[in-house]
Amino acid sequence: MGWRAVLVLLSIAGVARSQNCRGEEPKPRPCENVCDENGNCRIRAAMLLPKNTTFYASLPVVQPVFDLAIQSQAVQAAFPPWLKFEWMTYDVTDCDAAYAVISAIDAYNDCAHVFFGPACDFALASVARITKFLGNSGIPLITTGGFTFDFVTPKQTCDDEFYMLVRTSPLGFKDMAYFIIDVMRHYDWRQLLLINEPEAQVDVAGKSTCHLMMKTFANFLKIEDIIYTPWDTTSDGGLNHTENLKFYLGYKYTSKFDWKRTVLLYETSAFVEYVGVRGGHLLASTIHDFLIREAFHVYGRELQPHVPAAEALLKYVGYDYTSKWA
Ligand SMILES: *[C@@H]1O[C@H](CO)[C@@H](O)[C@H](O)[C@H]1NC(C)=O
Ligand SMILES: *[C@@H]1O[C@H](CO)[C@@H](O)[C@H](O)[C@H]1NC(C)=O
Repeated sequence: MGWRAVLVLLSIAGVARSQNCRGEEPKPRPCENVCDENGNCRIRAAMLLPKNTTFYASLPVVQPVFDLAIQSQAVQAAFPPWLKFEWMTYDVTDCDAAYAVISAIDAYNDCAHVFFGPACDFALASVARITKFLGNSGIPLITTGGFTFDFVTPKQTCDDEFYMLVRTSPLGFKDMAYFIIDVMRHYDWRQLLLINEPEAQVDVAGKSTCHLMMKTFANFLKIEDIIYTPWDTTSDGGLNHTENLKFYLGYKYTSKFDWKRTVLLYETSAFVEYVGVRGGHLLASTIHDFLIREAFHVYGRELQPHVPAAEALLKYVGYDYTSKWA
């Protein structure tokens, strides 16, 4: 192979590398350079979050966190001293998908190098689908959101729907689905009633948070061959909850329950891989908080490794579900 062939090969490799996700030569915009002509170098970071503090990830909450993070020694040591950050904020009104897209376009026009947010699933999906096409070679999008199962699929090439998206949260709805599936498997339970209020918990992942969670659950329950019945509480068929519960459960279980009294059994060391140390305790105390907010009487009881589950159920709940309902 002569030097011409080598040269041709090199130039083909060069072209392949410099193409963007649209398969085109990038058209550089001078404003995208990190350093300006005076040698001032800054990364323009755009926060695409709602101002509305109903949502967990909102501008008034997240902005101070970034300010503090930037001041910390560890973060300062990670970047060269001549590199500064410029924070730009965009209000994604009510975490809505349409506002998220227009905010992303505004941020792109302002030459942002990186997006933080959106954190609501529908808003995130709309923006994360296009960030791979923005700028020279795509704009990275970092978010604590992205709970629905679509977001946990691989995203390493241009062909992947959410290429350029980085989820920093270790927990998604898929993990919660497998938590339920593992419990079902453990007791050899086969059927499940999914009671769902589609527009609840919008503060967590925006519009239809619970609907998306249910969709994720359904997706994996199907894969794992567990029969489920979905009950959307917003369509009551003219019946109250008590009647609907009887309808959906086929008159089987309701009389056994006093629905406002709940015993929460947990294992402190569970779910360490998802939540960290004392994962089970953290998870249980979060569920505990929500139950109390909904006016349930909750009794938290820690499971001891040396006491069998059936025995603990008898002691704390007064009924050994494991053997009777298997
Ligand atoms: C904040 O968002 C919630 C949920 O979408 C909405 O009900 C509320 O009206 C909003 N508040 C303001 C001040 O816009
Ligand atoms: C639900 O409806 C049934 C039948 O009409 C009635 O007996 C019961 O008291 C209702 N329950 C509640 C909680 O309203």
